[in-house]
Amino acid sequence: MKTIAIMAQKGGTGKTTTATTLAYYLAEMAGPVLLIDADQQGNASQIMGAYDPLEWGTEKLLEPTPGGAEIEDLKQTRSWQPVKKYPAVDVDVIAASAALMDANMEVAADAVNDQVHRIKERLETVADRYKYVVIDCGLLLDMAALNALVAADLWIVPVKPGGFEVDGLQRVQEQLQELRELNKGLEMWVLPCMFGKSNAHRDVLQHLHSLGHRVTLATIRRAVIAESYTAASMPLPVYSPRCGVVRDYEKLAWEVMAWSGEKEDTKE
Ligand SMILES: Nc1ncnc2c1ncn2[C@@H]1O[C@H](COP(=O)(O)OP(=O)(O)O)[C@@H](O)[C@H]1O
Ligand SMILES: [Mg+2]
Repeated sequence: MKTIAIMAQKGGTGKTTTATTLAYYLAEMAGPVLLIDADQQGNASQIMGAYDPLEWGTEKLLEPTPGGAEIEDLKQTRSWQPVKKYPAVDVDVIAASAALMDANMEVAADAVNDQVHRIKERLETVADRYKYVVIDCGLLLDMAALNALVAADLWIVPVKPGGFEVDGLQRVQEQLQELRELNKGLEMWVLPCMFGKSNAHRDVLQHLHSLGHRVTLATIRRAVIAESYTAASMPLPVYSPRCGVVRDYEKLAWEVMAWSGEKEDTKE
């Protein structure tokens, strides 16, 4: 089991689209996937058709361990039958809602119990069950995000063109060093999102490569279809299986599988 946290301290850089699309493709191509929504806005939950503020969700993963709810009690299984593909693609989802805001404050105020290994310890109990865990974070480095990054093997930072996002990578590098004190093996990839073909965007991409981070081979293009799918309660590859953006994300999924040692023969 490999855990991948999607986190950037900016809104609207493509975090949730990346988390939901990657979760879908990894489930389709590699095996069982658990998607955890760690953003109190619950956007990933909405896209996966799992949003329900009356049900328990990710806030329960932030309760002190041992004890509290099990992943089994919190997950909702979502299933899609993509065109001409068999079998259906299943993704288990742990959903988020505003309740996560209170949980974040409770963890921050808890001076007695360990505060940052709560998600990690719960995930250890399902390590045999899932091939990948994908965690969608919000734009704050709150306790949910911190727990996600402590549990993660890989941190993907979606960056979209625009000076401030690129400048933010300086801070990301500092945070990575700090996080490695809690999570020694944590790797970080920069994922260029919403890039067009203009010279200006090409310059930004070049600049990203010059900063010394690992930049993914996949660059996610900007496309109108990826702006309009969010209300449809389905992941982008189900909403628009043939659009360019999903092909870019498919490439990212292959990159992730290569990184985690998935064999080539999983390809159809
Ligand atoms: N590749 C893309 N091209 C165009 N629009 C996109 C793309 N990816 C995401 N979007 C849109 O941009 C907005 C922010 O994306 P989202 O994935 O929710 O980012 P975040 O989680 O970082 O806030 C959403 O309205 C989404 O539909
Ligand atoms: Mg989001």
